[in-house]
Amino acid sequence: MGESHLRVLLHEEQIQKRIRELGEQIDKDYPDGDLHLVGILKGAYMFLADLARAIRRDVRIDFMGISSYGKNKTSSGEVRVTKDLDITVEGADLLIVEDIVDSGVTLNYLIHLLEQRRPRSIRIAALLDKPERRKRPVQVSYVGFRVPDEFVVGYGLDFAERYRNLRHICVLEDGPGAASQ
Ligand code: IMP
Ligand code: MG
Repeated sequence: MGESHLRVLLHEEQIQKRIRELGEQIDKDYPDGDLHLVGILKGAYMFLADLARAIRRDVRIDFMGISSYGKNKTSSGEVRVTKDLDITVEGADLLIVEDIVDSGVTLNYLIHLLEQRRPRSIRIAALLDKPERRKRPVQVSYVGFRVPDEFVVGYGLDFAERYRNLRHICVLEDGPGAASQ
């Protein structure tokens, strides 16, 4: 098994500062109505926890489980709902909270699925966006950071279920002689 090396791409403080800005913007954009933050498991759990606290207005929190990736770094192209929402969304403003938009396959599928349940609106907040990788169109209203086409881990994002608890977002690099962490 090759050793992996972690290079910090986004420091904890940069992430927290950006999330405070996103929270302020969301407060301005949703002055009234029933706002549901829909976190996509598992990758978005940490972003959702911090974003929710950066928002001052009242929100409801819900989660959806979507699986589109196996243990590999590449998408299988298949999307499966592994956990559905608990709260009814009809008439509510939905803000989907996602860790990263890569091919766009997951969110493109999810938007179509949730539209059928007649919410008042649906928007996406994604901490990271890799626009170069897009295969399906996705409109992301709140983007934390655009990142290059490199595999990233930490702050909720994993590789084979590892590295989710890192406070920074790091590029996972393989290399002979690289220090593992
Ligand atoms: P998409 O359907 O290709 O846009 O994939 C979105 C999902 O793939 C994200 O929610 C992540 O779970 C996963 N993913 C995509 N790129 C990365 C990455 O660089 N690191 C970790 N997970 C990723
Ligand atoms: Mg995900």
